[in-house]
Amino acid sequence: MKITRRAALKSSALAATALALRGSRLFPQTSTAVDAHIDILPAEPIATISPEIYGHFIEHLGGVIYDGVWVGPNSKISNTGGIRQAFIDTMRAVQAPLLRWPGGCFADSYDWHDGIGPAAHRPARTAFWGQQESNQYGLHEFMHTCRAIGCKPYLAADMRSLAARDFYQEIEYCNAPAGNVPSNSAAPAVPNSLAAERAANGDPEPFNVDLWGVGNESWGCGGNLVPEEYAAMFRRFTAWTPSYQRTPLRFVAVGPNGDDVDWTRRLFKSLYSNSERRHLFGLSVHYYTSGSPTAFAEGDALNYSTDDFYDLLTRASIMERVVTDHWAAMSEVAPGAASQNPVKLVVDEWGAWYGKGTSLGPEYNLSQQSTMRDALLTGITLDIFQRHADKVAVAAVAQSINCIHSLMLAQEDKFTVTPTFHVFQMYLPHRGAQAIRAEFSAPAIPNPLANAPIPVGGNSYTGSLEAVKFLAGLSGSASVSPTNPRLLTLTVVNPHIDRPVTTEIAVAGASIANTSGTVLAEPDVHAHNDFAHPNAVHPSPAATAAPSAGRIRHTFPPASVTTLQLTLT
Ligand code: AHR
Repeated sequence: MKITRRAALKSSALAATALALRGSRLFPQTSTAVDAHIDILPAEPIATISPEIYGHFIEHLGGVIYDGVWVGPNSKISNTGGIRQAFIDTMRAVQAPLLRWPGGCFADSYDWHDGIGPAAHRPARTAFWGQQESNQYGLHEFMHTCRAIGCKPYLAADMRSLAARDFYQEIEYCNAPAGNVPSNSAAPAVPNSLAAERAANGDPEPFNVDLWGVGNESWGCGGNLVPEEYAAMFRRFTAWTPSYQRTPLRFVAVGPNGDDVDWTRRLFKSLYSNSERRHLFGLSVHYYTSGSPTAFAEGDALNYSTDDFYDLLTRASIMERVVTDHWAAMSEVAPGAASQNPVKLVVDEWGAWYGKGTSLGPEYNLSQQSTMRDALLTGITLDIFQRHADKVAVAAVAQSINCIHSLMLAQEDKFTVTPTFHVFQMYLPHRGAQAIRAEFSAPAIPNPLANAPIPVGGNSYTGSLEAVKFLAGLSGSASVSPTNPRLLTLTVVNPHIDRPVTTEIAVAGASIANTSGTVLAEPDVHAHNDFAHPNAVHPSPAATAAPSAGRIRHTFPPASVTTLQLTLT
């Protein structure tokens, strides 16, 4: 438990105001006793918040690609070239910076050649997740999806079942320029045949993919390797790859499952025992929060108790430890990693993973509902990434639509966004901003279920961590606008299920002149959107009180996510 500066704050005042104030979207800012403090410290910069931490992920799994993203060009459902229009519009609405594809576990038995060329001639294959893959959605369709959204593609390459040659030729196919390719030889420049094939398949201009995952979960579905074996594979796959000046490559090595620092330590030892680490940009980290305190990928997305609610958010908060533990392990092996060798963390799978109860249907494998509880998990997670902007460079929520921690649910012509979508939108002001330290002082919440080891895992691994006993009573992060040094963004999650938290907010060395904000809060934490009620959960403008002596007093509603914009004098 983090000991807060004002740990002695009493919780009785919280309880007293709770009943009176619950249930209002426009939460009244009446003057009540202060329960908590936030001190923002602009003189303590952390790093620029990479816009790529708000990334997304789609895999050939259940109803993610087929029906979720891809409805086909002849569908009656509104689409652009076969891509569901609502998917494009929603991803644009959160200014999605990047999209990871084709997996996940699917990636390591996927041959990218199967998904190019005339659609009618593409082979149907038996693929990961026990599904038949028609290959109607392939590399070009994915690139068109990214273009329509205006985001970068992030490709996960098949390292388990394809050769290193297929990997570098996939890079060549994606990135070789059209026309004569400048050649570092006396021979005359000639066109590249893979670029010509790409052009024949409809895209003369290169895709310019810079971000590449070299395998996925290689400790599990990606090959059941030990770190030293993976390091050798990584070196072989990346020893030479074609680069074209316009696209400096960024390779992401397969990192640990959850908090398995042994993998990170051994992988880095092995990688750093050799001076060649071509284009090593990041270490992938996957951390899922199970819906159940005792089993992985269990628990109900909609029906949960207050104890389950606090326990899940406590376990989600372990993301902070996951980030700092792996960073420390990397730095142990490569001291000064942050400055000399800027290998960053790429948290390319995260979210709450429940059991089957709320699936859209049997063929929508791993689809689940999302409630306000998931919105709070989203806020807590994004705040952790923002607080560690010096370490986390890229992240991708798993997965965008019809899956684990989705922003959208879609079934044929039915569509809704989830509460998680709204949090992504509310956090937009932090993109590219300067993260600064902020000290949160609020009484912690005891985790009522902290009496058993925590199940952690994913599709290919399950393990456990020791129980965590407390959840921060208020958490969040702060940043300075990249264009206006007098404009701060503060995002705050109040996880108390039934208590508003009245907080005094101060900025060291400055006075707050003005405040505005947005809040996502519902009287019932089980609130969610569904096809019949797609707007049941939505944010509202936050009521704010006038500053007094350069500070503000703000009451964060129970179980809420808030974005405040503070103008300084
Ligand atoms: O996101 C679902 C699965 O979880 C992915 O395919 C895999 O990488 C992870 O275990």
